[in-house]
Amino acid sequence: MDEPAYQRWRDAKLKSYPQRVDELFVDIDGLDHVDESSTAAIVANCRRSNMAIYRCRDHFADRAAVKSFSANFGLHHLDHHLCVNDDGVSELSAVSGGIRAGYVPYSNRSLSWHTDGYYNEESRRVGAVVLHCVRNAESGGENALLDAEIAYIRLRDENPRFITAFEHPECMTIPANNDANGEIRPAVCGPVFSRDPRNGTLHMRYSARGKNIQWRADDLTRAARDYLKEVLDQATGPVFHYRLQAGEGLISNNVLHNRTAFSDDPAQKRLLFRARFFDRIGIQANWNTATARTEGRTLKAIDLKLSDIIIQHPEINSFGELTAAIRNISSDDMIFLNFDVKPDYRDTPRNWEWKLETAFGDGGR
Ligand SMILES: [Fe+2]
Repeated sequence: MDEPAYQRWRDAKLKSYPQRVDELFVDIDGLDHVDESSTAAIVANCRRSNMAIYRCRDHFADRAAVKSFSANFGLHHLDHHLCVNDDGVSELSAVSGGIRAGYVPYSNRSLSWHTDGYYNEESRRVGAVVLHCVRNAESGGENALLDAEIAYIRLRDENPRFITAFEHPECMTIPANNDANGEIRPAVCGPVFSRDPRNGTLHMRYSARGKNIQWRADDLTRAARDYLKEVLDQATGPVFHYRLQAGEGLISNNVLHNRTAFSDDPAQKRLLFRARFFDRIGIQANWNTATARTEGRTLKAIDLKLSDIIIQHPEINSFGELTAAIRNISSDDMIFLNFDVKPDYRDTPRNWEWKLETAFGDGGR
C-alpha cells in the first residue's frame, strides 16, 4: 500500500466532504428530464461524498423513469434480486403478504445500518443505489447516511489493523437463506472492505444486524466492529440524517444507511422505488487504482446478452439447461449479463432473473 498516496487522498477527501446534509441537495426538473448542469452537480456530489439527494420539480415517477434517470449516471446493470419486480426496480412499502412480507425493508420496522446487497457474492457487488420517494410516511422513515470511504478513514485513523481485520476474506458470513421449499441463497462469506477489480474503488459489505450474521471470532474484528458502531452512533459525527420527501431521492455509491420505523396513513402508504446497480457513479482514480490491474492488464467490462446465449445454444430446451449453461460462463474480464429477453421455457420460474443472476455469480466454479 502506497502510504503517501493514501494520505494525500485522505486529506483531499476530508477537506471536500460536506459538513451538512443540505450540501448534498441538487434540484432537477424531473426524473425524465435532467439537464447537463444538474447531472454534473450530482456526479460532483457523488465524487465528494458518494451520494447526492436530488429534488424533482416535476413529481412524476414510475419505475421506468427511475431507470432512465439512473442511466444518465452510467447506471445500467441492475441487480435482479429476490424481491424485485421483473424490470429490476423494487417498490418499497409495508406489505402484509407474499414473498416480500418476510423481509424487513418491506415492513414499517426500523432497519439497522447496512450497505445494500451485503449478502451478494463478490461478483455481484452492488455499486450504486437509487432510492426515489414517491410518497412519504405519515411519520418516521428517516434515513441516516454515511459514505463508506469516511467509515474506512475513521477506522484506519483509529487503528490501521482494523482495516486488515475488515479485509479478511472470512470476516463476515451471511448464512444460507432457506424457506420451506429449500435453499433460496447459499451462505456467503467475504470481507467488509474490498476493492472493485475493474477500477480500484472501495467496496463495503456491512450489516449491523445482531441475528443472522457470523463474524470472524477474533479480538481485532470485534474491536473494529465496536469502533465502527461508535462512529455510526455519534450524534455529532460525520453521519447525515434526512427524511426523503415525495419527489426526492438518494442516488449513491451504496453508502452505509439505516432507516427509522414509520407509521403510514392507510390511504397514502409510504412508497419508495429502489434500483440497485453493479455500476458506480463518477468513478475516478484513487490511491488504490493500481490494484485494478491483474497481471499488468486492466479488466474490461463486457456486455453479454441473454438473447445471444439462447441463439448460440439451440440445444437448450429448458430453463434448467439454460441455468447450467450460464453457470459455465467464465472469463478473465468482468462480464455483465443483460436480460434483454425473457427465456420462454415451460419451467421458467417467476424469479427467473434472480435465478440466472445467481447462477451467473457462480460462473466457472
Ligand atoms: Fe438498504
